[in-house]
Amino acid sequence: MKETATLPWWCDRRLIPEGSGLVLNGAPVADLASSLGTPLYLYSASRVRDRLAGLRESLASVGLDSRIYYAMKANRHPGLLDLIRAERDVGIDACSPREVETAIEAGFRPGEISLTASMLSNRDLAALAASRVHVNLDTVSAIRRFGRAAPRGARIGLRVDPGVDAGYAVAASKLSYGRAKLGLPAARLPDALDEAERAGLAVDTLHMHLGWGLQESDAGAFDQALAVLAAQIPKIPDLQVVNIGGGLGARHREDDRPLALDAWAAAVRRRLGGSGLTLACEPGTLLVAAAGVLVVEVNTVNEKDGRTWVGVDAGHNINVYPLHYKIPLEVVHVTRPLDSPARVVTIVGNINEAGDVFAQDVRLPEIREGDLLAFLPAGAYGASMSSDHCLRGNPREFLIDKEGGS
Ligand SMILES: Cc1ncc(COP(=O)(O)O)c(C=O)c1O
Repeated sequence: MKETATLPWWCDRRLIPEGSGLVLNGAPVADLASSLGTPLYLYSASRVRDRLAGLRESLASVGLDSRIYYAMKANRHPGLLDLIRAERDVGIDACSPREVETAIEAGFRPGEISLTASMLSNRDLAALAASRVHVNLDTVSAIRRFGRAAPRGARIGLRVDPGVDAGYAVAASKLSYGRAKLGLPAARLPDALDEAERAGLAVDTLHMHLGWGLQESDAGAFDQALAVLAAQIPKIPDLQVVNIGGGLGARHREDDRPLALDAWAAAVRRRLGGSGLTLACEPGTLLVAAAGVLVVEVNTVNEKDGRTWVGVDAGHNINVYPLHYKIPLEVVHVTRPLDSPARVVTIVGNINEAGDVFAQDVRLPEIREGDLLAFLPAGAYGASMSSDHCLRGNPREFLIDKEGGS
């Protein structure tokens, strides 16, 4: 391994660029790609455990009882759910009846599952009531309809929209959560509480989720949202839990500065530390994004119109970040990660759409057909959002868990 000063921004002791190739969680990425095939999502169990340890430490500094619910929409790979389950103190944040079923199949008890979802049908609400998981609702309509399906006295949470935009939303309007479809405006909270009472439901949780990819520059917006949440607490007589959702980000570029856990926890301590409530959170990206890399094979190197187009055996059907969200992925040459950049290329996928571009004008080492590339971070909202568009199939996934035996 080269001197620390020369190492790329994305590496650490779990993801190491060696002269002979990229090593994730102790396993050479090229060897796994050759035995398992590509496109391949690889996940480092240790990187997930490291993040959980950091999160627990920060939560402890808030001074409230706390509960972590892993947002399984980020990645529901069975090995990963088993890993989370084995931690014992982490529950599941689900967002649909099928996620609830999957979590129960993975060994989580209904009492360990919290569901937060929107635009729920009567069919959804009946399934959730039958499953006995805790639900956070965000419309008067859903409260009324859930009351018909759930037993009298069932406990629910209310999701509030603090009306701020933060994280990736600041750059991409489609990621905007404030004043969008999700959450009750704070001014509607009294109506929601009245409806809950009429429906025979007890409100025990106040919830918010600000969106995705909170950065250091969002500290003010986060604090403002916490202040909105804190102002609602006295209005809910049976309140026990304040759930502040997910949203802590991963780095996608060298100059990204995700909101650090200690700054996040310090803000929570200032606004909610004296509340005496249980603090819940629902991290997805924070726990799994940096744990994952997507490995693809270069099948085409083509010169056209003054550009070098590098075609790979994956498309936007298996990773939607660059095309759908306009969030970049770092591209790393798997067997020569430390080679100096030799040329500027555009990396494109195998879906029949001109927009199927993974990375435009990136500087990479010399690339030949048959080479392997890694895209990162790819552990969150990669495989879980993949589709079979163009019948290209779903990607392979593999959890590398040296300690636990993969
Ligand atoms: C209600 C809720 N909680 C938690 C999360 C997880 O968010 P993240 O991956 O940003 O941590 C999401 C993601 O959409 C969500 O909708």
